[in-house]
Amino acid sequence: MSVGARVRLDGLKLAFGAMPAAEVDLEVSPGEIVVLLGPSGCGKSTILRALAGLLRPAAGRADVDGRPVGASGTGCAMVFQEDALLPWRTASRNVEYALKLRGVPRGERRKEAGDLLAQVGLEGFAGHLPGQLSGGMRQRVQLARTLATRPRVMLMDEPFGALDAQTRSEMQQLLVSVWRQYRTTILFVTHDVDEALLLADRVVLLTPRPARIARTVEIPNPRRPGAQFEPEFARRRYEILASMGEVPQAEPAASSAANGPADTRALTGPSQGPSGTE
Ligand SMILES: Nc1ncnc2c1ncn2[C@@H]1O[C@H](COP(=O)(O)OP(=O)(O)OP(=O)(O)O)[C@@H](O)[C@H]1O
Ligand SMILES: [Mg+2]
Repeated sequence: MSVGARVRLDGLKLAFGAMPAAEVDLEVSPGEIVVLLGPSGCGKSTILRALAGLLRPAAGRADVDGRPVGASGTGCAMVFQEDALLPWRTASRNVEYALKLRGVPRGERRKEAGDLLAQVGLEGFAGHLPGQLSGGMRQRVQLARTLATRPRVMLMDEPFGALDAQTRSEMQQLLVSVWRQYRTTILFVTHDVDEALLLADRVVLLTPRPARIARTVEIPNPRRPGAQFEPEFARRRYEILASMGEVPQAEPAASSAANGPADTRALTGPSQGPSGTE
């Protein structure tokens, strides 16, 4: 089974011509899930593309287990929001193609593709074309195809962004269960604070363009089932939204019914509750 690689961004600067796009120092441990969270257009996809070796840094370096990204064999696989399946190949043949690239002998590919598809919950759909599958199912095929390459690092760019809430939640759980098995290093980009808190060991908050690290939030005891129903989760969520400027600080009364001070107390009240839940 593959084992995650260490990813290091060392004074990494990315730019489009004279326009700076990102400036990041970050180290990701083998098998860690780091979520990059930041406003639209800040440079998240640009950072992932640089890690995939698709964009050359203006300065600094990015490496995987000490080797510069883009070098062959660093084992980085990119997963996009819009799946990149070949529409004329069945689910199985899409996965088999990745196995072929990995050098798996022809005679073993069909069976291994079937196993991978079963692992992502697509037993019985091996013969379907992408057009005959739902968005969530296509993302499952994409995950199977990515796993077929035995990646050491998965670079995921809002992979579940286009899915409805329930499918998205199923895919998050699937990703966690697959990660538990493979322990791949994952860099995951999202806009969604809940998704970040559910998946990450560490959430890295980025500034508006050019992306710099504004703050890092460590998640103690990450990916615990039911964590989203705990007060600690809500507190962290509020804190992150507030530092992104997406929730108002104590808001003046929304209606004209009551005046300021009482509402302010009501807003700050819940955080005074008993602590020590961990
Ligand atoms: N090929 C390019 N040429 C010039 N500018 C670009 C190019 N690609 C991206 N940019 C600019 O770089 C900035 C960062 O883009 P990027 O796609 O990384 O943002 P993002 O954080 O992924 O946004 P979103 O959340 O909307 O996906 C944006 O201002 C964008 O306009
Ligand atoms: Mg993007």
